[in-house]
Parts: sequence; structure tokens; C-alpha cells
Amino acid sequence: VKRARIIGTGSYLPEKILTNADLETMVDTSDEWITARTGIQQRRIAAENEMTSDLAVFAAEKALQMAGISADQLDLIIVGTITGDFPWPSTACLVQDRLKATRAAAWDVSAACSGFVYALASASKFIESGSARYALVIGAEVLSRVIDWQDRNTCILFGDGAGAVVLEAQDGDFGILSTHLHADGGDWQLLYQPGFGSRHPASVAGIEQRLPFLKMAGNEVFKTAVRSLYDVAIEALETNGLTAADVHLLFPHQANRRILEAVRKRLELREEQMYVNVDFCGNTSGASIPLALDEANRKGLLRQGDILVFDAFGGGFTWGAALVRW
Ligand code: ACO
Repeated sequence: VKRARIIGTGSYLPEKILTNADLETMVDTSDEWITARTGIQQRRIAAENEMTSDLAVFAAEKALQMAGISADQLDLIIVGTITGDFPWPSTACLVQDRLKATRAAAWDVSAACSGFVYALASASKFIESGSARYALVIGAEVLSRVIDWQDRNTCILFGDGAGAVVLEAQDGDFGILSTHLHADGGDWQLLYQPGFGSRHPASVAGIEQRLPFLKMAGNEVFKTAVRSLYDVAIEALETNGLTAADVHLLFPHQANRRILEAVRKRLELREEQMYVNVDFCGNTSGASIPLALDEANRKGLLRQGDILVFDAFGGGFTWGAALVRW
């Protein structure tokens, strides 16, 4: 059977660093509060002239270079994002043009912080069915443009960034062994961006009501996130006859350290079995898992045959996991 194997990873973080001390000058908060509640120390913020497609292209170029293939070999490009350059066309189409991926179909996936895992699952199905040989999957976000910088409950959490992987159809037992996707739209109002869409079309009044900015009920999101991240990680392991002891590295969506620690403890994983970089880049939504993966890969932490679990949860609600033999 054909499997989708990750043959290249890449990532990009904007240069500008926003520290907790910087945030103290913007809203009524403290480094102490942010560090204790979230573990986040700093996050990256895109420059004014940097768009989501720019971040995506930078990450993709590095992933293609590592994979050793050229963009015109790609059969498809899927971008997981909720902060695309435009409502439409898709950011994937902009990336397709910039990379000159002339043969590739291109589309975005909207699954908030689960966007990368949803996109990866979609691409791997095309590969397993024989419809694609090479695929580029990207998670890219410029959340700083939809954050309410007057809302201390949310503005401390998020950052900008992008991560990418190149997939190749290969025979054998390496690559993506299974993917598991879930959704429950019943709780959409706990984490969403109210405007501007067909429900709240663009209006001056809407701007005054701050509708274009992310809204979140943090406490309720926290509880559901921990439960869902745990459940779907267990589902992925059990499907493959594995247990937590077999996991080399868990790559959870980097929401905040308390969520990650709660998930790790429930899964009974040792500290070194979970990769965490939320301290330095904050919650980058759909970009967080491929960003963390590329960082770990370039540090030389991944060995052939290692069992990796990608584990995501986000607005929708959506959640999902991918089990990978590296
Ligand atoms: N600085 C100082 N005080 C603050 C801040 C801040 N930045 N933000 C909130 N507070 C205050 C609140 O106003 C509240 O004060 P009150 O008791 O006087 O009303 C107090 O701190 C406690 O607020 P809670 O919301 O109960 O704090 P909690 O312990 O739940 O922590 C947090 C808040 C960090 C947002 C937490 O709920 C959380 O991590 N939630 C998950 C959020 C998340 O990661 N979402 C994304 C996951 S999915 C995705 O990535 C899209």
C-alpha cells in the first residue's frame, strides 16, 4: 500500500518579538500572570508588509529544499489557515503561484488550530488513493491581525508563524499510519471570529463592536481542549495497536503550557516524550504543529522509525490526530 511519508519540513517565524514586558505596556497584565497561566514568554509578530502567504512560502521553500524536489513536481498544495491573505481566493492559490507549482491543485482548509492536521489528513488520503505523488501541506497564520489588542484575555496568547511538510507516496511501513478527525459545531461560539462574513457583513457599526476580532471563552475552551486532545491521541494509538509507552514524541497543538501539561499527564507521558515550544512562539493556531515538527527535525531529534503523534484541537470545535512512523 502507498503511504504518505514526510520527506521535508520547513518553518518560518517573523523577526519581530513581542515579549510579556511589551504586553504590560499595552494591556493591564503582568509577565508573572502570563507565565504562570500560559507558560508563554514571547511570541513573533509579522511585519506590516508580511502576509500569511509570505510566511507560508518561506516555510514551503525550506521544506521543498529539504525534500530535494522542485515545486513543479507537486500534485497538490493544502494550506491550513484561518487568517489567509483574503477571505478568497485561497492562500494556497497565492502560494501555488509564488512557488510556480504549475501542476498543483491548491486549496485552504478552515479548521482553526486543527487546520494542519485536517490538511495533512486530506493530503495523505490523496496519496494513499494514488491520486497524488507529491503534496505540500502548510499551516500558516498571521493571527496578530485578528487579535483584539485591547482584550487581555486573548491578546497574550497568540503569535504569527508558518510550518510546512512535503509528502511523498512511498511503499512500506514508514509515514502517516493513520489520521483521525472530529468536529462538534455545537460550541462554535466559544472560540470564533464574528465578522466579517455573511452573518455579520462589513459595517462601520461592526468595527465599533469589534466584530473582526477573535473572541474566546478561555476557561471553557481549556477543559474541552484537554479532553479532546487526550481522547484523539488515545484513538490514534489504539488504532495502531500502540500505547503511550511507544511514543517517541507527541506534538500537541501549542495552545499553552498548562493545556499541554494536563494532556501529557493524562497520557502518562514522560516530559521528554512531548515537544513544547509555546514558550517562545505562543499559540500560532494552524501553524503550531508543523513549526514544532520542523524545529525538532532540524535539532536532530527525530530518528527513522520513531513513532510521532500530531495532536490538535481548535475552533469549530475541531480536533484530530495523525500517527506517524518517521
Ligand atoms: N493578565 C492579567 N489578568 C488576566 C489576564 C491577563 N492577561 N487575562 C485574564 N485575566 C484575569 C481575568 O480577568 C480573571 O480575573 P477575575 O477573576 O477578576 O475575573 C482572572 O485573570 C482569571 O481568569 P480566567 O479566565 O479564569 O483565567 P484562567 O486560569 O482560565 O486562564 C487562560 C486564562 C490562560 C486564557 C486559560 O483559560 C486558557 O489557557 N484557556 C485556553 C485558551 C486556549 O489556549 N485557547 C486556544 C486553544 S484552541 C486554539 O488554539 C484556537
